[in-house]
Amino acid sequence: MHLVHYNNKYNPSDANKQPDGLAVLGVLFMISKEDNQNLSAIIDKLSSIQYRNSEVKLDKELKLKSLLPDTFPYFRYTGSLTTPPCSEVVTWTVFVDTVQISTAQ
Ligand SMILES: *[C@@H]1O[C@H](CO)[C@@H](O)[C@H](O)[C@H]1NC(C)=O
Repeated sequence: MHLVHYNNKYNPSDANKQPDGLAVLGVLFMISKEDNQNLSAIIDKLSSIQYRNSEVKLDKELKLKSLLPDTFPYFRYTGSLTTPPCSEVVTWTVFVDTVQISTAQ
């Protein structure tokens, strides 16, 4: 999972052209038997946002912290977007610990 943040020094449309434009939190998932209820606010709405640039309002409150691992050791490095044009504008923070997600989710 990528939580993408734009540097508010820039317009969102320009941030992806600046070397310090984006900060992305990367979280790795581990498959679990149980659903992770913390993800349900998002997962419940995925069928409503199947196309690029579509938007939907969540029905439930979502605390971003509940999407992160419980402990915070991380790797941080400067890198790029993961898709073309792969601009080198991202400060990556990738958490060492994983978050659970069920196969159904
Ligand atoms: C859900 O969020 C709470 C609060 O952040 C956290 O303590 C708990 O470990 C999370 N559950 C899962 C399955 O990640």
